[in-house]
Amino acid sequence: DWTSDQFVDATVADLKQQLGDDKVVLGLSGGVDSSVAAMLIHHAIGKNLYCIFVDNGLLRKDEFENVLDSYKHMGLNVKGVDAKDKFYSALAGLTDPEDKRKAIGRVFIEVFDEEAHKIEDVKWLAQGTIYPDVIESLSVKGPSATIKSHHNVGGLPDFMKLKVVEPLKTLFKDEVRLVGKTLKIDDAILGRHPFPGPGLAIRIMGDITPEKVHVLQQVDHIFISNLKKSGLYDDVWQAGAILTPLQSVGVMGDERTYENVVALRAVTSIDGMTADWSRLPYEFLADVSNEIINKVKGVNRVVYDISSKPPATIEWE
Ligand code: XMP
Repeated sequence: DWTSDQFVDATVADLKQQLGDDKVVLGLSGGVDSSVAAMLIHHAIGKNLYCIFVDNGLLRKDEFENVLDSYKHMGLNVKGVDAKDKFYSALAGLTDPEDKRKAIGRVFIEVFDEEAHKIEDVKWLAQGTIYPDVIESLSVKGPSATIKSHHNVGGLPDFMKLKVVEPLKTLFKDEVRLVGKTLKIDDAILGRHPFPGPGLAIRIMGDITPEKVHVLQQVDHIFISNLKKSGLYDDVWQAGAILTPLQSVGVMGDERTYENVVALRAVTSIDGMTADWSRLPYEFLADVSNEIINKVKGVNRVVYDISSKPPATIEWE
């Protein structure tokens, strides 16, 4: 029988053998998988693991600072890299979702590569790839496989001659969480909803500007912090907000407003392949909507997405 204690002992021993005194570079995302992969390798080789956490300017409000702090508390050798401007310039004017994904993937690889080159004599690239990622990338690429290009797998630029180490390659998500518990990783990291690599860029419909990111961060923060406050966060598999380019007429005091519509999305799911919209209580939705419209400048209407997957997807782009 599989137990996470045994998995940790065996994997740490294997990693020690495999990696010896070599240096390893790993990109942290703030998510469960890369964090658990990092801690496993950290247990095996300590400071020889060089972690890089990139601020792409598309993260949740205060996420970069908060997550960087927790990584440091976990003892990881981690470098935070502010690359916001590089991402914003690459995204300027792009409206097509796949173009946005490609630009983000490209800039990420550029930034990561530049940082990796600063680590003298680094030999390995570690990745938090889990079993479903492996399966997804092996599966026959029909039209459905390319509906959205996920860039977690195979993101290695070929001019980097690094060997790849993927300690979670045989695990499912729930097993990754158990391993994370054994490694005493913060619940705030282990229990966190999935968040897409391209971040808020695929939740802002149309082109990306820092101003739009700022608006969406505030909306998202109100939604997520209310989910946590109401004890609903763990009932939901993933939640977030979408900034639509639609403007609608509203009234504020005795002034007519003409501002953006935001949509709230919360789903239940096992693995993200299928999903149902969460039946959040009306009173909860009412409070969140009021708080958003009262506090966030530029938003005067909130709608709730009641579509399931399929035929809708979880993200809007
Ligand atoms: P969809 O929208 O396809 O999303 O129903 C399923 C899950 O995948 C996430 N997602 C992404 N993750 N890069 C990622 O790393 C992407 O480009 C991407 N697109 C969607 C989405 O957040 C959900 O968890």
